[in-house]
Amino acid sequence: MGFFFCFFFFFGGVADLRLQRKLKGRFATTTTTTTTTTTTTEKVNLGREKIVALFTLGRRLLHAAGGRGGTSQAGSSFFFGSRGLYSTMATAPTTDAPAAATVKKLHGREFYESIGSPKYILAPMVDQSEFAWRMLSRSFMPPELQSKLLAYTPMFHARLFSQDAPKPPYNKYRDSHFQCVLPKDPATLWLDGNPLVGDRPLFVQFCANDPQHLLAAALKVAPYCDAVDLNLGCPQGIAKKGHYGSFLQEDQELIYRLINTLHENLPIPVTAKIRILETKEKTLEYAKNVLSAGASILTVHGRRREQKSHLTGVADWEYIRYLRDNLPAETVIFANGNVLEHGDIEECIAATGADGVMSAEGNLSNPAIFAPEPQPGAFEDEFWRGRDGKGGWRVDAVFRRYLDILHKYVKGGEPPARRPLFVPGKGMDTEWMKEEIVIPPKKGSKSEAFGNPNYGALQAHMFHLLRHFVSKHHDVRDALARARLGELEQFEGIYKMVEKKVAEGLIEYEETDGKSMEDPAEEERLKKLVEEMGPAETSATAILRCKRPWWCVQPIIRPLPKEAMARGAIQPGKKDKKRVAEEEANGGEKRVKGDETKGGDAKVVEAVKEELEKQTEFQTSELVSG
Ligand SMILES: Cc1cc2nc3c(=O)[nH]c(=O)nc-3n(C[C@H](O)[C@H](O)[C@H](O)COP(=O)(O)O)c2cc1C
Repeated sequence: MGFFFCFFFFFGGVADLRLQRKLKGRFATTTTTTTTTTTTTEKVNLGREKIVALFTLGRRLLHAAGGRGGTSQAGSSFFFGSRGLYSTMATAPTTDAPAAATVKKLHGREFYESIGSPKYILAPMVDQSEFAWRMLSRSFMPPELQSKLLAYTPMFHARLFSQDAPKPPYNKYRDSHFQCVLPKDPATLWLDGNPLVGDRPLFVQFCANDPQHLLAAALKVAPYCDAVDLNLGCPQGIAKKGHYGSFLQEDQELIYRLINTLHENLPIPVTAKIRILETKEKTLEYAKNVLSAGASILTVHGRRREQKSHLTGVADWEYIRYLRDNLPAETVIFANGNVLEHGDIEECIAATGADGVMSAEGNLSNPAIFAPEPQPGAFEDEFWRGRDGKGGWRVDAVFRRYLDILHKYVKGGEPPARRPLFVPGKGMDTEWMKEEIVIPPKKGSKSEAFGNPNYGALQAHMFHLLRHFVSKHHDVRDALARARLGELEQFEGIYKMVEKKVAEGLIEYEETDGKSMEDPAEEERLKKLVEEMGPAETSATAILRCKRPWWCVQPIIRPLPKEAMARGAIQPGKKDKKRVAEEEANGGEKRVKGDETKGGDAKVVEAVKEELEKQTEFQTSELVSG
């Protein structure tokens, strides 16, 4: 099958016509009526469209032949087939999807199966699910599971993405968020959605409140992805202001029109990601509306709109189960929320009956979260195992994989030569640990990161990945904070700091027979919390389960809302204060301005607590997330 795919791509130019002729009659073809703007762009579209059409055709062939779909089999190794690298900002396409003969548009489960029935879903994350991160996450998947990992791009703003200025640069927003073709040679595929480097299956997500803007934006990306997703879950203030994301929940008719416009007019399927509503019944009605509008896949984030930042708490998988049980069996559902470790994925599928499980924060903390734990003896240098049997991917290993991807694909060059990762007990050289590490100063005045989504996300990714590491090694934290985004040399220097500290930590662990990482007092404290509060009421349960030494990637576990409240991390908002003030006024109690700490504030806190009680009455899962 792999050979078939290689053949398909590398001899695609010749095979294209021959195959199309051969396949005539086996696959229905349709012609889209979308027009391109200029003759030049028509030529451009033909070039890149040929590759994408071949790719799509190949996938459908495999599907028809009963294969796994094999989207990423074209580039199953993350070093495979990189071509056409370019070191400056990309100019994303400025034309709509080309008028080309395409394979019949599939829908729902048929479509899902055609892309390999993915079970592992890398969530859309603004500024964080960009190409390099997706490639890093995909790099941990064994070849037979490559097509099981579906990734979403970050959410893009449909109106900003679709509007073209009359002159170059036609759309800076688009250029700096989606780099699907080479800037100076738009006929050549580049990074985002490029099947030749393995960035498929890929869904592109937009937020929108205008069907025409959404369609215009979706047409721009259609040749480079497998589906377009509508964000109906964003709970942030900016979404409220811009009237998109979860703030469309109250306008079901608009939601229908947005989805249906893509369903009717886009050459590829449309999908949607929603949050749950106050009741299961209302959520079911909502889901039915989304599906009847034409969504091929429904992603359900099991949290309500109010559940964000300190109020995030646990997602309610029972709502997703309710949808599974009450929607037609062929509905494709992705469940989202509460996935901290790989094992949670199977648990989520068992609890919800979902087809796939999406992870956001769990993936940011551990990009290997979707991959099964390696067998003992495999990946010995990258995957560490402790005396208690618990293992984890080493931060230095993940950091270097990430840097290698940035060098290879984004910067367009070979990664620097690296020494093998240090593994204790192998008689490896340790002289290098005495070398002084110098982080080079910033170069020039303009950062290469400017306008490049892959460099732009680098620092935030590293802080997320090294969260536990930097809480011990403050010098690394400070170096990260000072580093300039586009300058890989600076990050290489930080990598060396990390590599050395990991080696030191591993040596100490071995020399102390594991005692260096033991903290009986802290373990006792956590266990006591679980005992006193009950496993579902404290994040200590998840900490005890997921904790690894600081040299391993691991989830960031937030306190549950009630715990955050008890620690004073949640402060009552203006509305709550106002409400309590009004209640007091009604009760004849007069409040003195500025005397907020007495009586009145205690009531505010009570009011917020009440609100929290309502919002956190979820299932007894001990997991916390995002
Ligand atoms: C950094 C970050 C950015 C996010 N951006 C988006 C986004 O662009 N679109 C979206 O639908 N959800 C976005 N989300 C929400 C996630 O996709 C996901 O629904 C949420 O974090 C719950 O999943 P989790 O419990 O696995 O974190 C974002 C989450 C994070 C942490």
